[in-house]
Amino acid sequence: MTKAQPLTRHIISINDLSNQEIETIFEVAQGFLKELADDTIPYRIGRSTTLASKCILATLFYEPSTRTRLSFESAMLRLGGANITSADPAVSSAAKGESLADTIRVISNYADIVVIRHPRDGAARLAAEYSQIPVINGGDGSHEHPTQTLCDLFTLRSKNKSLRNMKVAISGDLKGSRTIHSFVYALARFGATIDPLPAPGMELPAHVDRRLREEFHSRIVSKAPSQPDSDSIDALYVTADQPHQLSLYAEPEVDYGVILQKKTDAVYVTRFQKERWAEKERPYPRIDAKFLGEPKYSDASVMHPLPRVNELDVSLDTDRRAIYFQQAAYGVPVRMALISLLLHLHRNKSLHKFIGGFAKPEYGVYVQPIGTGLQCGNPNCIVCDPAERQYAANKFYVVEPKSEQRCKLRCAYCETDVDDNAAAQLVVADTARRVFTPGMAALARSAADKLKNLIVYRNEAEAAAAGFAPRESGKKASAG
Ligand code: NCD
Repeated sequence: MTKAQPLTRHIISINDLSNQEIETIFEVAQGFLKELADDTIPYRIGRSTTLASKCILATLFYEPSTRTRLSFESAMLRLGGANITSADPAVSSAAKGESLADTIRVISNYADIVVIRHPRDGAARLAAEYSQIPVINGGDGSHEHPTQTLCDLFTLRSKNKSLRNMKVAISGDLKGSRTIHSFVYALARFGATIDPLPAPGMELPAHVDRRLREEFHSRIVSKAPSQPDSDSIDALYVTADQPHQLSLYAEPEVDYGVILQKKTDAVYVTRFQKERWAEKERPYPRIDAKFLGEPKYSDASVMHPLPRVNELDVSLDTDRRAIYFQQAAYGVPVRMALISLLLHLHRNKSLHKFIGGFAKPEYGVYVQPIGTGLQCGNPNCIVCDPAERQYAANKFYVVEPKSEQRCKLRCAYCETDVDDNAAAQLVVADTARRVFTPGMAALARSAADKLKNLIVYRNEAEAAAAGFAPRESGKKASAG
């Protein structure tokens, strides 16, 4: 009798895990802490198990890292397993031009689970498509960093007992920080209020803002109580306690006055992600004792994914509110939990299938033939990388396909939306009838299995250059 294969799960986005699964990871992490903590420091794992003694973790890092790589490797050693690592792209075959697909296919035969960090947005999702073993995203460009968010949530939960109804301020480079993007999705899903404090010009990207409002049912509420529905950037994202229920009600009952007055539970600080910006310096907020002197921050935990540069004053290290080193220490038990669950090493707990708590929208997927049609508009997306372009097709989610006006294309790798100006020019070509039509109607109307007959072009000229005729003349041609 053949044994049923356990499911290979990849954790690329925090949204690949349901709320219930996140709670399962935390229960397991808590169990490791209870069993294996250092005798003197309760948040530090000091002893090991043999749970993963037959397993190998590969760490494949194309970008600098201290915490993520070393805490994954420490977690695997504490589980009794072994590590193999490629931490410098200059000395791996990437330097010879090897594609990510080939690298991951090969690593699939050397290890049981792999963590990848890459400077390109969407790289981990692409790698997962070619992997036979679980892929964990250790940070891809400015897209996401889901395991950092697990550490952040675990820290908040240990401090505040519950993740619900928290108010969390997020400061700094909200555009370039992948830690922020995974974190805000999770906060919204657990019903937190998010208070953005961006550096000038570093607000949350448009597609993250849109998903917070449309997928996770956050409402934008002005910090000035006289303008409760303002669209101003000086506003909070407010999500009710049970966000997934909100879609059932047109107007959720939320007392905005109470939320506005509520004290902040945590201030999450990020560094300027200078490697993702053309300018090497920008005006940037600095969190220090003066900033935290405001009464609303009197009990706020101070968090940072680290490394810090100078946005977080070192004098805060001895402040009772500083928890960033504990947050980094939790990287070990949390990652031990994730690795062991993905490797099915627990008898009573698993992440075998996506379960409960958060309804991930099921969008149609439009896959474009290689070398023609619409490119993802994010130049840092993995599909725009010359080394990957030859095999990595542009792939888009067709978001809200029921109404043409609101139909959007979202890159399936970096999750950036095609912006409204570009979307207004798009045309959809039908490969069977060799005609194209302006707008997205053909795509929105198409059944999922018919999407493969369509090619989206940036504009009419590109569709015509590819040999398609405008729909009207196409009709005449076939009639004549
Ligand atoms: C973060 C990262 O790499 O995104 N670091 C980490 O993993 N703890 C944050 C950063 O580099 O600013």
